[in-house]
Amino acid sequence: MSGEVLGILDPKKGQTFVDATLGLGGHTLSWLEACPKLKVIAFDQDQNAIEMAKKNLQAFSKNIEYIHDNFSNLDKHIKEPIDGILFDLGVSSYQIDDPERGFSFGKDGPLDMRMNNSQGIQSVKELLETVSLAELTSIIGNYGEERFAGRIARNILENKTGLETTLQLRRIIEKSIHGFEKIKSVARVFQALRIATNKELDVLATALVTSLNLLVTGGRIVVLSYHSLEDRIVKNTFRVEGKDCLCPPKMLKCVCRHKKKIKILTTKPMLPTKEETEKNSRSRSAKLRAAEKL
Ligand SMILES: C[S@@+](CC[C@H](N)C(=O)[O-])C[C@H]1O[C@@H](n2cnc3c(N)ncnc32)[C@H](O)[C@@H]1O
Repeated sequence: MSGEVLGILDPKKGQTFVDATLGLGGHTLSWLEACPKLKVIAFDQDQNAIEMAKKNLQAFSKNIEYIHDNFSNLDKHIKEPIDGILFDLGVSSYQIDDPERGFSFGKDGPLDMRMNNSQGIQSVKELLETVSLAELTSIIGNYGEERFAGRIARNILENKTGLETTLQLRRIIEKSIHGFEKIKSVARVFQALRIATNKELDVLATALVTSLNLLVTGGRIVVLSYHSLEDRIVKNTFRVEGKDCLCPPKMLKCVCRHKKKIKILTTKPMLPTKEETEKNSRSRSAKLRAAEKL
């Protein structure tokens, strides 16, 4: 939804934008092509993504400051007011396509799934070594929205000795359930383990609020999410930050003194067009929400 993002953020000469999830740099490139005098501060927690984006964005190297870190640390690095920010959440297709990263259930690879494999973050294999049955059931049930979560979690833990690769894990999941839609369950379990390993939902709400504090008045935020729980966090954060008082309705006078920070630009999320979903199947689940700083 690169055109929609560009239209909402509308970069102008001399402004500073943040790409909180650089990936291969597709959005940053579209901003800089539209406005070659823009400055971009680009974050990704995956060093490989940054290296690839640097090549794709070589023509604009002077405009971009690259930061290899989690976007939960935006305020540690950004020391100036910003005019626009994008969060294009989740995993990128290049990460999924590389079997060595362990995100894919289509090709064999190690049970890894860390977006940032340079810090002390647990891989899926390490997570499965320590997680309890109750925790794993909750991860698969909540993050994967998989109805056979309990059965799959039990089977994974019972077979974890010697469990090293993505295709081994896929076979365990498939053996846990009956019926024709096994591949959908496999996809849901892989998604759940990825979200848990990278703690993707834990940092989102705080990072969104931090980014609103960094925006100038009139500055805009756009969030692209691909999972219902992600979208719920974005929607709720925008709702709270778009309201003046958060006191319960029975209070006669406001005691919370909460002041609204944003005007919501998308009462309903924007969805990709049919042409886009035909070109890029991953975009099918995309939801775009945007807001403007007051
Ligand atoms: C959907 S892709 C972004 C694709 C990118 N917009 C493009 O045009 O190529 C998400 C990227 O964000 C990164 N990422 C996800 N969560 C992150 C986080 N909490 N902090 C920093 N980077 C993150 C991933 O490593 C991945 O490269």
